[in-house]
Order: sequence, then structure tokens, then C-alpha cells
Amino acid sequence: MPALVLLGAQWGDEGKGKATDLLGGSVDYVVRYQGGNNAGHTVVVGDQKYALHLLPSGILSPTCVPVIGNGVVVDPSVLLSELSGLNERGVDTSKLMISGNAHIITPYNVTVDKVTERFLGKRKIGTTGRGIGPTYADKINRVGIRVQDLYDESILTQKVEAALDVKNQMLTKLYNRRAIAVEQVVEELLTYADKLAPYVADTVLVLNQALEDDKVVLFEGGQGTLLDIDHGTYPFVTSSNPTAGGACTGSGVGPTKISRVIGILKAYTTRVGAGPFPTELFDADGEALRRIGGERGVTTGRDRRCGWFDAVIARYATRVNGLTDFFLTKLDVLTGWEQIPVCVAYEIDGKRVEELPYSQTDFHHAKPVYETLPGWSEDITKAKSFSDLPKNAQAYVKALEEMSGAPISAIGVGPGRDETIEINSFL
Ligand code: GDP
Ligand code: IMO
Ligand code: MG
Repeated sequence: MPALVLLGAQWGDEGKGKATDLLGGSVDYVVRYQGGNNAGHTVVVGDQKYALHLLPSGILSPTCVPVIGNGVVVDPSVLLSELSGLNERGVDTSKLMISGNAHIITPYNVTVDKVTERFLGKRKIGTTGRGIGPTYADKINRVGIRVQDLYDESILTQKVEAALDVKNQMLTKLYNRRAIAVEQVVEELLTYADKLAPYVADTVLVLNQALEDDKVVLFEGGQGTLLDIDHGTYPFVTSSNPTAGGACTGSGVGPTKISRVIGILKAYTTRVGAGPFPTELFDADGEALRRIGGERGVTTGRDRRCGWFDAVIARYATRVNGLTDFFLTKLDVLTGWEQIPVCVAYEIDGKRVEELPYSQTDFHHAKPVYETLPGWSEDITKAKSFSDLPKNAQAYVKALEEMSGAPISAIGVGPGRDETIEINSFL
């Protein structure tokens, strides 16, 4: 019966793709439950590197069924090109299942994302420009287009009309853009219908039956806890719920079925796009983390902002997700620093604060309070067990575990599948 959730504990790009792929060989289903092709998950298998955006990272494990749940927003053209890219590399994608209730990112949603950001100017969110926010807005406004609508032309046309009614007013009158023709959108969307048909399924039923049959289901989050629309650094967030609760609403599996919630945690911190980031570095250390960690966006190619580990955020992630474990990634990137600062609390208006403040104003004023831990210089990429790590690296991990509030059950020491130290088994 075990259902596991694997999610980002910071601002995304923690290494979820690698962690999911690692477990993919031992689980029966891997399910994306929110987000869309704003995600960029890198998986390294042997000498092959895969960049996945919409497909669950389990797609690379031959025995695993990859599922796109109802909570995901799907850009059909991106999905089809991701599938054909993998097929060309010999990956079998025939087991994929897509929820008929997942919402479609239409061309006008992408347009609205881009013009809205441009209009916001200095106040922009720094979105990935993939139409994610506007598609979720349409879903909540009840003018969204779902995968199942591709199979009823009359309903599809009515829905596109309804969605474009207000949007065309906005595009022409406010943003000085050309109106988008209903027929053109419908025509484009219909070209995807046959191509997607073999994958469309009642994924809620499939997943619940699988759990009744004692299959193992792994939910793979996109983005991260601090990008959550409810629990993140709003408004500098994405428009869905990457936190653990999202796994239930985004898949139709109830919370009583979930036995483990694993937070993927980078040994330092990164963020892409705008918004507060207390431990951000603007000096040579920040540059070095970016260079050594290869911190460049998989989706947009933007440089990631880099900073030291923030234990306040890790504690917060433990709380809002009910984390049972952490998977600490990229410990190898910290090799070579003599001293490693770790943020243990914030100072806000002269007061020490131990927990993430709910007030956006306070968080914007938060200054990191650092404790400095001794570093190590030995290469750790070949370490296979915790005891193979240098004493100072062990102490760093133990200190992070103590501060973060959940056991660290695995440690990443390199991007490859086998560059992982397993401490407690996840299954
Ligand atoms: P995701 O969005 O959470 O899946 O993470 P990304 O794939 O966007 O970014 C994580 C990057 O770190 C990728 O390039 C991974 O190949 C790489 N990576 C993951 N774990 C480790 C690790 O333990 N060590 C190193 N050096 N790289 C890692
Ligand atoms: P993975 O799954 C890092 C950020 C964007 C922007 C904000 C809103 O690879 O961890 P959106 O396009 O979602 O409306 O943009 O969220 N963002 C990510 N940052 N990793 C991601 O995904 C992200 N997906 C969105 O940079 O700040
Ligand atoms: Mg990523």
C-alpha cells in the first residue's frame, strides 16, 4: 500500500529528478501531481543526461508506469516533443498515463503569461513564461480547457470561446495586442487529440486500484515548498501546490494512503526568478557555488541565485509538509570551503527569530544569523556509506539534520544514480 511523496524543500531545483529516478526502479508508478513544463528535472544515467520538463522522472525506469495527474497543467506540444525526443534515444514511453482532468496550457495562456510579466515591469515575478499561472487562473475561474475536451469539438469550441471572451478584450484594449481567433486555437488543439489519445486514462481509478493491490506509488513534486501558492513566498511563487497536500488533490489519492514524505534538500540554497532570499550571496562564494554546482536553469537557462544553507526554511518545509525524511543533495559541491556558514535563525528589526515569519514584510527584512561549520577538502564523490565521508562532512550533515527537524536518509555526492549514500531505506 505504500504511497510516498518526494518534493522540493526549498525554492526548486533541489535534485528531485535524480532522487525520483533513483527510486523509480523500485516503485510501480511515478506521478506528477502539479505544475507543468515550468519544471526542469535533470537525470543522469551512466553517461546519458536527460532533461525532463513535464514527464515524471520515472519514465526512465522501464518497469515503472509514469502518470501525469489531474493537478498538472499540460502543454500538448511540449509533451509530444518530449516524448519523441525520448523515443529517439530509445526510451519506451508507451506506459505513460495522462489524466483526462488535467488542464491544457493553450497558446493564449502562454501569450498572457508573457504580456503580463512585461506589463508588471520592475514588479515582475520572473516566471518561466510557459503559461503556468494563466492556465491555473483559468482553472480556478472555471474557464479552463481539460484534456478530455479535446474529444468533443463542440464543447471545446464553446470553452475556448468563453475563455477568449474576456482575454481578447484584455489583449486588444489593455496590452495593445491582436485578438486571438477561436477557430485557430480549436484547430491547433484538435491536432493533438489523436496523438494523446493512447495515453489518456482515468488515473484516479488506476492509482487507487494500484494502492489496493499493494503497488508502490511515488508522487514527484515540481518546484518546491517556498514556491507553493499557499505556503511559499507569495506573490513570488508558482501557481500550484508543490507541498505534500498537493499530492492528494493533484492525483485523487487520499491522505490516509501516504506513508512517507521525503523533502529534497540542497546542501546550500538556490532560487530562480524574483523574490526574497535571505542567505543570497553576491560575492565570490556565490559565484563559486553557481560555477561548481552548475546552477543554471534547465528550463530557461537563467543563472540561479545562490546562497548558504538556510535551516529556518528547512524547518518550515518539515512542518508544512509533515516530512518524514530528507534527501540531502549536492554535498560534494561544498568540498573545498574551509568554513561553511549555515543560517540558523533570522534577525528581523533587531530581534532574533527562529521560525519563518508569516508576514511578507518581516521576511523581506530578515537578515541571516550564521553559525560557521568547519569544511573538508577530500573528494567525497566516491563515498558509498556515511562513514566514508570525512569527519567534518559527517558533522555538517548531522548539524543540518538536527536543525531541520527530520532525519537525513540519503545524501547526494554527485549527479549520477550511483553517486548516492543511502542511510535509511525509503521503501
Ligand atoms: P530538480 O528540478 O529538483 O529535479 O533539480 P534540477 O535537475 O533542476 O537541478 C539539480 C541539478 O543538480 C541537476 O543538474 C542534477 O544533475 C544535479 N544533481 C542532483 N543531485 C546532485 C548531487 O548530489 N551532486 C551534484 N554535484 N549534482 C547533483
Ligand atoms: P523545478 O521543478 C525553480 C519559479 C520561476 C518563477 C516562479 C513562477 O525544476 O524545481 P512560473 O513559470 O511557475 O509561473 O514561475 O517560480 N519556478 C521555478 N524555479 N525550479 C522550478 O521547477 C521552477 N518552476 C517555476 O522561476 O520565479
Ligand atoms: Mg529544476
